[in-house]
Amino acid sequence: MNLPNIKEARKRSEKEVLVKRDEYRVPLEMKKQGVGKYYCIYTYGCQMNVHDSENIKAIMEEMGYSLLEEMDEADVIILNTCAIRENAHNKVHGMLGRIKHLKETKEGVITVFCGCMAQEEGIALELKEKFPWVDIVMGTHNFHKLPFYLENTLKTKKQEMEVFSVEGDVIEGIPVKRDSRYKAWINIMYGCDKFCTYCIVPYTRGRQRSRLPEDILREVNDLVSDGYLEVTLLGQNVNAYGKDLDLGYGMADLLRDVAKTGIERVRFVTSHPWDFTDEMIEVIALYKNIMPYIHLPLQSGSTRILEKMGRKYTRDEYRRLFYKIKEMIPNVAITTDIIVGFPGETEEEFMETLDLVDELKYDLAYTFIYSKREGTPASCFEDDTSEEVKKERLQRLNEKINQYARENNEKYLGKVVKVLVEGESDKPGKLMGYTDTMKLVNIDNKKDVIGKIIDVKITEAKTWSLDGEVVDGE
Ligand code: 5AD
Ligand code: SF4
Repeated sequence: MNLPNIKEARKRSEKEVLVKRDEYRVPLEMKKQGVGKYYCIYTYGCQMNVHDSENIKAIMEEMGYSLLEEMDEADVIILNTCAIRENAHNKVHGMLGRIKHLKETKEGVITVFCGCMAQEEGIALELKEKFPWVDIVMGTHNFHKLPFYLENTLKTKKQEMEVFSVEGDVIEGIPVKRDSRYKAWINIMYGCDKFCTYCIVPYTRGRQRSRLPEDILREVNDLVSDGYLEVTLLGQNVNAYGKDLDLGYGMADLLRDVAKTGIERVRFVTSHPWDFTDEMIEVIALYKNIMPYIHLPLQSGSTRILEKMGRKYTRDEYRRLFYKIKEMIPNVAITTDIIVGFPGETEEEFMETLDLVDELKYDLAYTFIYSKREGTPASCFEDDTSEEVKKERLQRLNEKINQYARENNEKYLGKVVKVLVEGESDKPGKLMGYTDTMKLVNIDNKKDVIGKIIDVKITEAKTWSLDGEVVDGE
């Protein structure tokens, strides 16, 4: 048994990060263990977690298990959790209740708890003491050892808990079962060293570790050969890619090399304004297959709050970067993340955020009420703003965000745009896909365009999406 520890998670060791290529394997006895059996997986949180789940699915399938959408008939139920805000916790607790109920009616069901929540000291203790029926608890650094944990739990029938607070090395060679045949997530780095004062990620995902450029480029080239059209390079702070490798090779170099593979579309998330270099902007502007879409988290429009958040930029520095990006990259769409109600945020400081939103007119923003995360510096900051006031601020902010989202979308009316058609839409009888600027488009159904990048004429603009029709000749 190995439990997480927040003090350990805060440390950043000097030890050299190794690239391990033979760490993942399935023990012989487990190779056929899952034949005729089923698993299901519930994924919460960011794209990083979505991609981890793609790895976990492949690991399960290497043992012979087959995927189910729902838990009722499953032999193994996996919760891949997120810790970013309290509401992510609440969802998982609800799920644990459902699983417990199922376990009471069906014997032999195995529950696996993994992801960022598993890295939290308090949660791990809770799982040990209050939920001993959860069979396997594994952290973000060691999920590739799932076959071993399953083997042990099947033998001993005891709770297996292994969560490391000190990050591991970079593990290559974990298999992946991608959700899409057209677009793929690629991890370029793990962890984060930024330590924004509100954020749990540096603790749950550990120190920044970049993958080697040749491993990333090999993965992209393989995807091109397999007919993939789009890759999204993933990291908590992709702009800092390579800084830990000392190769003199950074994000601008990686973007250039990925673009040169010839893949149709290159995207990346998430960028911290701090490390956004001019060279990166130049590369994005130069290569037509690097998409003109940038997610640039603002968090707050007040310099005092930004400083308390440990963001390392001022309101004006952010504005300058924003305008530089807009100037240098034609047709770029910029989206953001904003937190309201950070401890000590005054009405005037919140108004500074609203003013900046009025000025910058984002294409879209993800907005959140500050959520206290145990163990982070901000959890000790005095917070005298009521929940009611915070909710009201969120609502005022969202009204503006929605207004600008719609106005930006309206600029597309009547225009012909390129859309990668991914499949059926939630809207009955329609297909869906994204523009280069990451606008969701629902289009009239024409099945043979799925998996293609086609011209679509925009006929209607809404707040969250566009409607369009396939241009004749496609
Ligand atoms: N409370 C509220 N929002 C948070 N985020 C990160 N940590 C917190 C927190 N403690 C938001 C930030 C980040 C996004 C992924 O989640 O805006 O950019
Ligand atoms: Fe949630 Fe952050 Fe973990 Fe992603 S990295 S799953 S957003 S806590």
